[in-house]
Amino acid sequence: MKSNKPLYGNNNLIRTLFKRERRLKLTKSSFPRGKVAFFVTSNVHKFMEARLVFAEYKIAAALLRVPVQELQDDNIENIAKASAREAAEKTRLPVIVEDTGLFIPALDGFPGPYSNYVYRTIGTKGILKIMRDSSQRKAYFRSIVAYCDPKGALECFEGKAEGKITRKERGSSGFGFDPIFEPLSGNGKTFAEMATKEKNEHAHRAKAFKKFAEWYVSAFRRRF
Ligand code: IMP
Repeated sequence: MKSNKPLYGNNNLIRTLFKRERRLKLTKSSFPRGKVAFFVTSNVHKFMEARLVFAEYKIAAALLRVPVQELQDDNIENIAKASAREAAEKTRLPVIVEDTGLFIPALDGFPGPYSNYVYRTIGTKGILKIMRDSSQRKAYFRSIVAYCDPKGALECFEGKAEGKITRKERGSSGFGFDPIFEPLSGNGKTFAEMATKEKNEHAHRAKAFKKFAEWYVSAFRRRF
């Protein structure tokens, strides 16, 4: 198995905590919860979005690259939970995993839990093509953040962003379906026309991470 040391975002707090862990010979499972969150993802954009939210709550974010299987399921909550359980077992750390789906009601919710596959195959251009003749352009992103500790305790947090599918790709920031998704509250901009901070003001993932951060701080921080 790969080292569990954070590969990214190892700012001063995280370095200090790792030093303290070595000095006190703490086990990994007694790592200071409520102050550090281990986000298992290979997506740096997702990590940057999470890191901005966590900064508001004075939580240091660490990115862990741990290979986990993505379950195929009709429900993104089940996918996130299964990945979080696997990552917690592999790392022996309290971890968070996040899973998102893009849901288009005019296509009966497609691509939903299959968004990753659809993005990798037909991509944004394919979605625009399928929707070429559709005047019903409503869509939403749904995000689930799943937290799991090595003892198996599991918590889920949800965030949703309502919006519409544009007629053309616009913008070059962000990732995935960002250039074709215009959030309702975003003054006509697509996510890809926003910097990360602005995207976070409207986005599904930031909403889910805020709920997680509030719970994480209130559940654990008073112990330290
Ligand atoms: P994932 O399985 O959570 O990584 O997300 C499924 C697919 O949705 C990914 O392949 C991304 O391309 C896309 N996606 C996830 N989150 C976002 C987002 O915030 N904006 C645009 N596309 C996203």
